[in-house]
Amino acid sequence: MALNEESSADLGLLAGPIDEETALFDRMSENVIGAWRLPLGVLTGIVINRREHRIAMATEEPSVIAAVNRTAVLFNAVGGIHAEADEPVTRAQIMFRVEEDSVPWVREEILRRKSRYIGIANQSNPGLTGAGGGAFELETETPGDGFVVVRLLVRTMDAMGANAVNTMAEALQQAFVQEYGDAPGYERGMAILTNEGSGRLARARIELPFEMLPGEDGAAFGHRMEMASEFALRSPDRAVTHNKGIMNGVIAAALPLGQDTRAMSASFFDAACRQGRHLPMSRWFTQNERLIGVLEMPVVAGYVGGFRHHPGVEAAFVFDGIRSYQELCHVICSVGLAQNFGALRALMTEGIQAGHMSLHARKYR
Ligand code: MEV
Repeated sequence: MALNEESSADLGLLAGPIDEETALFDRMSENVIGAWRLPLGVLTGIVINRREHRIAMATEEPSVIAAVNRTAVLFNAVGGIHAEADEPVTRAQIMFRVEEDSVPWVREEILRRKSRYIGIANQSNPGLTGAGGGAFELETETPGDGFVVVRLLVRTMDAMGANAVNTMAEALQQAFVQEYGDAPGYERGMAILTNEGSGRLARARIELPFEMLPGEDGAAFGHRMEMASEFALRSPDRAVTHNKGIMNGVIAAALPLGQDTRAMSASFFDAACRQGRHLPMSRWFTQNERLIGVLEMPVVAGYVGGFRHHPGVEAAFVFDGIRSYQELCHVICSVGLAQNFGALRALMTEGIQAGHMSLHARKYR
């Protein structure tokens, strides 16, 4: 279906007006009938690595914006959040199957030809190597039952890199068909990146002296935050909600920046469960008369890519004052930490209904 007056007329408010923006969406997606809008709010100022950022946040949950603004005032008063991010590495998996007895020699052959395969991958996407990144390592995984899985590790530089990495993976898949297609029991499999995000971690940290904490007794408040954190550590049912609170901020900040929030969520919740049960991604603890909050999470983000052609996205990068891939990760992770503090503060003081959720009530009265 093409985007035209007739197809969108039936949808009225759902599709919205046809304008320059929706015409652009028509080129970005398929069967486009309009645009879906969300309220856009502002985190008016949060200091991250000594620079103040305004953050545009898209969410239908009013308490998210209120809570993070309230938190930012407190965090800024102690000098703000310290954040850092790894140089991003994304992995692809190229899978095929042979008879179980053939797995050892196939695996050995693949590893023997490793540098050639890395070369094939890089030739398929010269843009990335030109920018200083590219495939740099190849490993194998043999999870049994004849499965051979080749892991390709790629430095994606400023990009999220999904397209680049998938192109590389498919080039290798072709090479493997040619070279192992005659192996006993060979079955072609698939080639795709993994959203597992341990190669794309970001960290945010805040230290709040007791005297700066809300309420009359800072030490008591610090203790209550520690208790909230320990509850999430001990109860997986609580951990999932604790983490949802972090993602309230992460997704709201990531959406206007055109990020793939599905990939971000997939890697985040995977990281939360990797140790066999759901764990909180942030920790709050007291030390030397301070409440310390830390959040380490995968931030599967891109600073460059096709999504930047959207003028709204470009405007969000300018508005937020994000000037590099690293800053993008710092901002996303820091908003997650601040959002988490805001939620725990409400939960451990006045309660969610009185503070946080009363904003909801106000909205729909
Ligand atoms: C609500 O959207 C988010 C919270 O439930 C998060 C939390 O419980 O930590 C308040």
